[in-house]
Amino acid sequence: MKRIIPEKTGVLNAPGYAEKPDAIAADRSFSTAVIRWQKQHGRHKLPWQNTRDAYRVWLSEIMLQQTQVAAVIPYYQRFLERFPDVGSLAAAPADEVMAHWSGLGYYSRARNLHRCAQRICAEYNGVFPADADLLVQLPGIGRSTAAAISAFAYGRRAAILDGNVKRVFCRNFGIDGYPGEKRIEDSLWRHAEALLPERDIEAYTQGLMDLGATLCTRNNPSCPACPMLPRCVAVATDRVKHLPVRKPKKAVPEKHAAMLVVIDRGQVLLEQRPESGIWGGLLSLPELAGPAAEARPAGKALPDMAISNAIARFGTVASCEALQSFTHGFTHFKLHISPFRISLAHRIDFVGEGSHVWYDGERLSRAPLPAPVKKLLLEIFNGTAQLKIAI
Ligand code: ADE
Repeated sequence: MKRIIPEKTGVLNAPGYAEKPDAIAADRSFSTAVIRWQKQHGRHKLPWQNTRDAYRVWLSEIMLQQTQVAAVIPYYQRFLERFPDVGSLAAAPADEVMAHWSGLGYYSRARNLHRCAQRICAEYNGVFPADADLLVQLPGIGRSTAAAISAFAYGRRAAILDGNVKRVFCRNFGIDGYPGEKRIEDSLWRHAEALLPERDIEAYTQGLMDLGATLCTRNNPSCPACPMLPRCVAVATDRVKHLPVRKPKKAVPEKHAAMLVVIDRGQVLLEQRPESGIWGGLLSLPELAGPAAEARPAGKALPDMAISNAIARFGTVASCEALQSFTHGFTHFKLHISPFRISLAHRIDFVGEGSHVWYDGERLSRAPLPAPVKKLLLEIFNGTAQLKIAI
């Protein structure tokens, strides 16, 4: 039997695991419990069960990648009616194969399916190999799918590890860490290999799939009905909701903008934004240009010079107030907006060319403005905007 070297650091959180090199391998009771449960409570009447026809097993496993059983069943049946064996599939025109896949999604699966059928006919005389190491070299067949075909069609001892099984293992063994991370995935594969039973591989493989699909579900798992309840580390440590660990979210970039609210005689100075970029083509408030404004933390007072220079073309500053800063969320970043209310001592009128315009406060509610800018301006014109610091 293969010896398993467990992770040296915090991956295996089941008490005692890290200290016992054979802890996983020795745990035969895991597969025994899965097999017993599958025989009594698992699924036995799925259309691709009760056959050793490798073509049918292979077809079902490919269709079941990323797709639920209920969605697969009618496709599986229609597909088999039209392509009853690997030879008929290999000989079919590609667009007819695609037409029979249409609606099932992930269409690279259908293209690979067709190519795989042709290779089985050309290289294996129409007979699927039993060995998972050979199956995995064929188009569309990954490590877990190869193992499922090898186990279901040929009764071979081969380890599966699809998304459902990862969830069962992460919870049962209290495996911390995101399963998409290589270190964690390697650990999960070691579990999958080490836990394989000596016999009843079909019931064991189906049992793992059934547990993941029917009891150990992502949301609202049925722990009280689960045969693994007494041994489940996630249950014992109250971490069922937290395992498997979700994909870590990437930090959202943050940007800063100083917005200048220049108001004069009931009008506000607005600027047309460039067509590309955020709020493309809308009117908005002039923003303080340059890296100094971008890097400035929200709410911090600006030096008068920066503002005076920015609006020198439009007038001279009489007063400047920093208003309450706020944050606007975009899909890919957060924008911290620091508004500054400015009144002019002297306004330089300009002809209506270029990208700037003096806009009547009364018309703002219908102006083509970004939502947070419109909200800010309406608050200012209605007198409800909060004053923060006077510069
Ligand atoms: N998901 C992947 N393979 C499956 C199978 N053979 N039965 C049910 N669900 C599955």
